[in-house]
Amino acid sequence: MSNLVYVLNGPNLNLLGTREPEIYGTTTLDDIAGMLEDRARELGLEIEMRQTNHEGMLVDWLHEAQAEGARAVLLNAAAYTHTSIALLDAIKAIRTPVIEVHLSDPKTRESFRHISYVGMGAAMTVEGHGADSYRIALEAVASGQV
Ligand code: DQA
Repeated sequence: MSNLVYVLNGPNLNLLGTREPEIYGTTTLDDIAGMLEDRARELGLEIEMRQTNHEGMLVDWLHEAQAEGARAVLLNAAAYTHTSIALLDAIKAIRTPVIEVHLSDPKTRESFRHISYVGMGAAMTVEGHGADSYRIALEAVASGQV
């Protein structure tokens, strides 16, 4: 089984650290990447961490994750979570399991964040733990939960 885990991040997550810190905290995406790389090494996994502001790029990367034989994808699709049938279709189109990840808990926020197209296709959702949501999701992959 492959040790490779794709970690895909959607729009505005490049601004983590300064973006609405009262909601998302002050940890940057680079900080999260570093923390995940360390944890992945301990778990015998390898991560491929990426961020884009473009919906179709996330679709392409989901396809790529399967083509590269990744074990799983951690996907924080950010606002596209709540709008993108294309992402739901891509998740359903690949056999690679996808874990939906969010720093905040969208279900406790505005009602337009309560629908998750990503969640409709994801094997599991981890949300509301800040940057730790990514670590918890990675550990779920390592323990074979997904
Ligand atoms: C988010 C939650 C989304 O509702 C929001 O659009 C984001 C970030 C999170 O990680 O908490 O951009 O995915």
